[in-house]
Amino acid sequence: MRKKLLLGNWKMNKTPAEAREFCEKAGEVVSFAKAHDVDLGVAPTYVCLQTVLENAPEGLIVSAQNCNEHDHGAYTGEVSIPMLDAVGIKWCIIGHSERRGYYGETSEACNAKIKALLAAGMTPVYCCGESLETYEKGETKAFVAEQIRTGFAGLTPEEAAKVVIAYEPIWAIGTGKSATKQTAEDTIGFIRRTLRESFGHIAADIRILYGGSVKPANIAEYMSEEDIDGALVGGASLDPDSYKALVENLVK
Ligand code: PGA
Repeated sequence: MRKKLLLGNWKMNKTPAEAREFCEKAGEVVSFAKAHDVDLGVAPTYVCLQTVLENAPEGLIVSAQNCNEHDHGAYTGEVSIPMLDAVGIKWCIIGHSERRGYYGETSEACNAKIKALLAAGMTPVYCCGESLETYEKGETKAFVAEQIRTGFAGLTPEEAAKVVIAYEPIWAIGTGKSATKQTAEDTIGFIRRTLRESFGHIAADIRILYGGSVKPANIAEYMSEEDIDGALVGGASLDPDSYKALVENLVK
């Protein structure tokens, strides 16, 4: 049985003071998630990680939004996995479409990061998803399959089972145009079949989230689909009341 997961991606939002304020209001939602057997987390910016770790109610997953695959060295502006580990971070988003689009991150680079995170005993949340152009050409599946194969290259089935995937069609991110639950399930089911080709029955254990304009009003629809195990949420995860409503509606 795959445990449901809701992860709030704060992107480049919130100062440490604002992050602390969020944490102070998160007690109830974290208890609610625990009581309903849902994994719940947030991904703050690097500068807010420690604040959230220190102020969040116990049980809230705190994830980084990116990492570098090298342990240390001349990589200005980067943060390494041992550094994240040293402050107590065990999760990291990899390959978000904004990192791919604005900073040229490739699936090969994501593969190196995923391997380094797994070697450090951490959980990667690997993002994939197609552009509007690819979607309109009907090439979503071929595109996403390539992202999955490259991102997971060289992993053993046991390692693959530790990765969380987030399928986020780029045309649905921050646009208010969420994918229908059928479109999301169609692609996510396909991702699971693609994983089965490489990793066999363990594909049934891999959690796959949907992301892209998920709101309290539409999250329940996605959760009713067989292969969708939760959501990666940007905009609607920033406000504590909206975040709470997401979790409440996820379990409905
Ligand atoms: P959104 O972002 O919920 O604001 O569409 C999702 C994401 O980019 O992870």
